[in-house]
Amino acid sequence: MSNADQAEGSRRDFLYYATGATGAVLAGGATWALVDQMNPAAEVKALSSITVDIAAVEVGTQLTVKWLGKPVFIRHRAQKEIDAGRQVELEDLIDKGAENANLPTTAEATDENRTLDKDGQWLVMIGVCTHLGCVPIGDGAGDFGGWFCPCHGSHYDTAGRIRKGPAPRNLAVPVATLDKTTLKLG
Ligand code: FES
Repeated sequence: MSNADQAEGSRRDFLYYATGATGAVLAGGATWALVDQMNPAAEVKALSSITVDIAAVEVGTQLTVKWLGKPVFIRHRAQKEIDAGRQVELEDLIDKGAENANLPTTAEATDENRTLDKDGQWLVMIGVCTHLGCVPIGDGAGDFGGWFCPCHGSHYDTAGRIRKGPAPRNLAVPVATLDKTTLKLG
């Protein structure tokens, strides 16, 4: 992928990020409005869980929202991304753990164990590189068609698993539940 492509990917991520911060977080408006009336402990509790409207996230695109101060990638994977992820053998992975907070810590990093739904369409991950914390570029970036972290060259595949570069672990899947057109984080 050329630098221009990566820059374009980065710009698009930013646009999604801005959209997510203003429009797509259903609970956001109500939560922020109430914050002033709460004590700090209640404020933290209210913000620890958000609901995101994912109805408009088309196949093959990604929405990025901010949650607990971090970007969260919400990817609606295309079939070719799912197929690519499911073809990978466990032995070819650097990090063989699912790194999925919804599963036991012993779960393996199969493609099926990385997504929230059985069909593998919804991949939700904390968008923070597991090397030193940069935000990877998405939309098919890198040598494995997933995400690429330009800081030191870490390549993640279509399931967000680290495949090449200095990052030691797969991108983390946070606690999340899916309900048709809404996603609850936390
Ligand atoms: S922070 Fe991502 S490769 Fe170093």
